[in-house]
Amino acid sequence: MSEHALVLGIETSCDETAAAVVRGGRTALSSVVRSQVRDHAAWGGVVPEIAGRSHLDAILPAVEQALAEANCPTASIGAVAVTTQPGLLGSLLIGATAAKALAWAWDVPLIAVDHVQAHVYAALMPTPRWEFPYVALVVSGGHTSLYRADDPLTLTSLGSTRDDAAGEAFDKAAALLGLEYPGGPSIEKAGRAGDPKAFAFKLPLLAPDSLEFSFSGLKTALLYTLVGPGGRRDDPWRVPRERIPDLCASFEFAVVETLARKAVRAAAQHGIPRILVGGGVACNRRLRERLGALASREGFEATFAPPAYCTDNAVMIAGLGHARWQAGAIAPLDAEVAARGEE
Ligand code: KG4
Ligand code: ZN
Repeated sequence: MSEHALVLGIETSCDETAAAVVRGGRTALSSVVRSQVRDHAAWGGVVPEIAGRSHLDAILPAVEQALAEANCPTASIGAVAVTTQPGLLGSLLIGATAAKALAWAWDVPLIAVDHVQAHVYAALMPTPRWEFPYVALVVSGGHTSLYRADDPLTLTSLGSTRDDAAGEAFDKAAALLGLEYPGGPSIEKAGRAGDPKAFAFKLPLLAPDSLEFSFSGLKTALLYTLVGPGGRRDDPWRVPRERIPDLCASFEFAVVETLARKAVRAAAQHGIPRILVGGGVACNRRLRERLGALASREGFEATFAPPAYCTDNAVMIAGLGHARWQAGAIAPLDAEVAARGEE
């Protein structure tokens, strides 16, 4: 294989149908993301049955669009990379089946990619010179985990969430506040006009040296702030709706501060000077600012995935696919998909 080979990436693990063409594991020639956000919004979260059906409708048009936008004939594609874990089984199957069919028809290698590893790879893509090891923080709707990365393919878990992921916490908080799904961007937007210190939510930092996370208590703290201790979500609010910006800014502050402190704590504990951050929540501006500032104050360097490649996309799948292909990791055409990855 050439160092500059073209890889078609396919991503269907959750609620985005994505396809992209990437050259040499680094340069995106196209990136198509067909979001299903509107299909799921009425339910306040992703409905697996709806996701599977929507992927089925969108996958071939997404691939065609990615090839057309990259302006490359199918004969120039050297390999097809696809997310095979973790994710919703029915959704993963649609992408994997399409990828297998294309790899077979074009007679090119099939590369199976782990979605969480790909979120880390997204932060490596714009980095001109890789300097392993890194501490990698993946913060998304399904994951909140810290890893030690020794190369793009080797992640060792340092800690992860015991309950809700950070993105899930934003999504649940937004649902409580009556804001639109996905909750992260809604809370960020509503919180812009708010005061992050208005409500003091206790930071879930756990034991002083813990690298685990726990966000479910924050959601309950928000609920009790709204309806009183022990109250239920349908109870009348004790807080006027005009305070929504303050509530959002304060909730965001608690999540961001926890993530920033733990990422820097991991780097300090393991003596690793560089931190990579990827996943949908890494789009968050306050997280980028706060983690960047805290890291540099403590003598560490934090690199974030570009915002367009923080949320689910196929560029990171094609990119990591290229690295796996270079390492000889070719998948059989009967490769399985798995709902859970390795933790
Ligand atoms: O990586 P992603 O697209 O999907 C998963 O792999 O889970 O992440 C989606 C998550 C959602 O929970 C969404 O609320 C959150 O990322 N998110 C954000 C922001 N943009 C997306 N959270 C906080 N601030 C944002 N700007
Ligand atoms: Zn993701």
